[in-house]
Amino acid sequence: PDVAKTKITADDRALRNGHKGALIWLTGLSASGKSTIATELEAELFHHHLNCYVLDGDNIRQGLCKDLGFSAKDRAENIRRVGEVAHLMTDGGLIVITTFISPYRADRDSIRKAIEPNEFIEVFAKCPLEVCEKRDPKGLYKKARAGEIRDFTGISAPYEEPLKPELILETDKFSVAECVAQIMDYIKDLIYVEKRA
Ligand code: ADX
Repeated sequence: PDVAKTKITADDRALRNGHKGALIWLTGLSASGKSTIATELEAELFHHHLNCYVLDGDNIRQGLCKDLGFSAKDRAENIRRVGEVAHLMTDGGLIVITTFISPYRADRDSIRKAIEPNEFIEVFAKCPLEVCEKRDPKGLYKKARAGEIRDFTGISAPYEEPLKPELILETDKFSVAECVAQIMDYIKDLIYVEKRA
């Protein structure tokens, strides 16, 4: 979005907060660990006095995007809207964490293009399909295999892996705490600014 020309800039907010806004964009298959990592990451950021917020399927797909399904076109629109909202929130000074499958490279890349370099951090939750399918916390893979759900990512719809993500988390090899630590380590040099009253 075009950012409104008001008196207070993103820089003013960063100086007040002691950190910049950023968008930590998790992408990966269903059950790859995105939401679990986001939840723990949010807590970690919060305890470091960093202003943060998680956007996920629960608070977006049931509200802002409740008119959308899982066709390529609807997913593109889902991701476009999330990108717009997240961009406004990062401009407002927040560290936003998103947890959408976002299976299409082009959809993710258009968000990257719209946001300041260094403020879009694409994090690939990399986990083999077999592992996600075994986890199957919502029983959706089973339904997809049985043909009860169409266009299911990894089964009957594609997942395009990021080519140059800022971070790759191998969620089948590392613990949640280790994955969170990797993200914290990556962002620490990017977000802190010296606080000015
Ligand atoms: S995205 O592709 O548009 O980014 P999003 O992350 O919002 O997808 O929603 C994915 C979640 O919706 C999955 O974790 C799963 O719980 C549920 N879901 C329902 N139908 C599908 C489907 N056909 N493909 C993928 N996920 C689905």
